[in-house]
Amino acid sequence: MSLDIARIRADFPLLAQEHNGHRLVYLDSASSAQKPQSVMHAMDEFMEHSYANVHRGVYAIAEAATARFEAARATVAGFIGARESAELAFTRNATEAINLVAHSWGRTNLAAGDVVVLTEMEHHANIVPWHMLAAERGIELRWIPIDAEYRLDLTNLDETLSGAKLLAVTAMSNVLGTVNDIPMLVRAARSAGAHVLVDASQAAPHLPIDVQAWDADFAVLTAHKMLGPSGIGALWARRELLEAMPPFLGGGEMIRDVRKDGFTTNDVPWKFEAGTPAITEAIGWGAAIDYLQGIGMDAVHEHEVELTRYALDALDAEFGERLTIYGPSTTDARGGVISFLFPAIHAHDVSQVLDEEAVCVRAGHHCAKPLMRVLQIPATSRASLYLYNDTDDVDALIVGLTHAEKFFAVDPT
Ligand code: ALA
Repeated sequence: MSLDIARIRADFPLLAQEHNGHRLVYLDSASSAQKPQSVMHAMDEFMEHSYANVHRGVYAIAEAATARFEAARATVAGFIGARESAELAFTRNATEAINLVAHSWGRTNLAAGDVVVLTEMEHHANIVPWHMLAAERGIELRWIPIDAEYRLDLTNLDETLSGAKLLAVTAMSNVLGTVNDIPMLVRAARSAGAHVLVDASQAAPHLPIDVQAWDADFAVLTAHKMLGPSGIGALWARRELLEAMPPFLGGGEMIRDVRKDGFTTNDVPWKFEAGTPAITEAIGWGAAIDYLQGIGMDAVHEHEVELTRYALDALDAEFGERLTIYGPSTTDARGGVISFLFPAIHAHDVSQVLDEEAVCVRAGHHCAKPLMRVLQIPATSRASLYLYNDTDDVDALIVGLTHAEKFFAVDPT
């Protein structure tokens, strides 16, 4: 493997734990990633020495806090290739960022009969805000299907996009691991006259991303899946779009002036940051990105591709057709998210056996019930890989799965 995993693991105190006499094997980073010491240290150090509210006080620590908060914004904006920090508004998470777009841009630009195109592999966060708008405004939702290799079936793409106002698509599926060709989808959407929102929640932690190269209109991401704290995410959008959009939540930072008969809004991006923001969390997110950039996103990605190949081969060698893997069989345009199911054993039962051996995977519908319905299954178990995982984690998963298979074997007599 190309990364020094022992060295990386030493930066993550939680991974040193043992449960039931087994080394903790954390394979649930698609749900939320573990945090390196440097993130915890940056947050502690900030609270111990510089904590104050931002954009308000004129005293020294308040100015230092504001400078560090805005520096964190610049770090996140730089990480995704934004033209300028003003294009990046902090939100609570990616879900809130999509709700912001639906509420603000959607309510301004979409009317009855307008079309929003989604894909069958979207997370609920990129479905429900559009369902809410459909119920309120009468917009039509269309769906790009998936094919037998668990990739987007683009056969009728132009027809599906015809007349659409927005394409809202994930850059990487949190269930299948499929990585979508965003530049190609943006070009197709543009020729149909549609805007594009990219859900980068799963891609940003694992792949080098560049919103300018994507040429999309909106992108959303969240800190907690990329080694940062929970409670903070971001919306990136082109400045002219943000400037034209009305505010989402009212109060605090988003105000320029308030009178008894109305208010005016602050400049972007603060126009979208009502109330006191997640200040310490922004500092932590900045530190998480520094950590990732210290390793290099190309190296992170390369490691995950190698490990995914190892895992797919090992699962196939051990279980063959007794285990169904819901995701592309090749590692081209595929991330380290591996959903699987023994057809006769419920995903939750498998996860419980794995838990006894301290192997942490997620079981369930993974907030993607429309996809589960397309796959005609209620749930999968899902192992998701990150930069601190190695072949020994995959080996522990395989051993746990052999025990689960044996434990739940149906006795035909
Ligand atoms: N969206 C997160 C997941 O896939 C919570 O697990």
